[in-house]
Amino acid sequence: MNRFENKVALITGSSQGIGAACALRLAKDGCDIILNGHKFDERGEKLIAEIEGMGRKAAFLVADLSKAKEAIKLVTDAVDTFSRLDILVNNAGVEKNANFWEVTEEDYDLVMDTNLKGVFFGIQSFVNYCRKNKVEGAVINMSSVHEEIVFPHFAAYCASKGGLRMLTRNLATELAPFNIRINNVAPGAVSTPINQDLLEDKAQLKKVLQNIPLRRMGKVEDVAGVVAFLASDDAAYVTGSTYFVDGGLTYHYEEQ
Ligand code: BGC
Repeated sequence: MNRFENKVALITGSSQGIGAACALRLAKDGCDIILNGHKFDERGEKLIAEIEGMGRKAAFLVADLSKAKEAIKLVTDAVDTFSRLDILVNNAGVEKNANFWEVTEEDYDLVMDTNLKGVFFGIQSFVNYCRKNKVEGAVINMSSVHEEIVFPHFAAYCASKGGLRMLTRNLATELAPFNIRINNVAPGAVSTPINQDLLEDKAQLKKVLQNIPLRRMGKVEDVAGVVAFLASDDAAYVTGSTYFVDGGLTYHYEEQ
């Protein structure tokens, strides 16, 4: 299915995990892909080869998205690479585990700057391009179930995702006159490098699974499928929403 024929997507933080899965899924559905990470290594090389093997174009752009200037430039460089840009997937994100009373300013800044400030200015850069070129762009932000539910010991992470929740709500209204859509995807517990410690701690994993009605960790492909939907014309009337991809975690109820 080539629902993204002639379209180009930029996926931030796409060397691994959910970002890499989104890149492969969008490519499979016909999209040319700009990958991004803070360094280019063999993971990026492998992804480029895989995407080109599907008959699509791929490039990798290095940027540190905790810096507004780099987030802005990444979008303009992405536009220049294949002479257009239709889809922006803001996937890059970090989390730091610490008691609230021990969080350092450095860690706070890293989390907020990567998960919120970089996303904010990346979208701004994309919107400026879309408005100038009359592109009906689609933005998908990788939020988290923690834009909605608490996550003790991850205060800055929750603040960043809560901010992303309202950023999307706000921009959906502000950007609707230009037919630019913006939505969040909120993964729950997904098997990715960000959850490496959890995956290795069998007792903790068992506890986590007890809170997930579907009783399994999410797969990166589970998330990528929803991202592809939101990026496509099938979601032409969807904006300002959050799609939870969490096996039922967020609103679960344990029958006694
Ligand atoms: C976090 C994971 C966590 C999951 C469910 C995600 O946003 O990145 O570390 O396991 O939420 O709590």
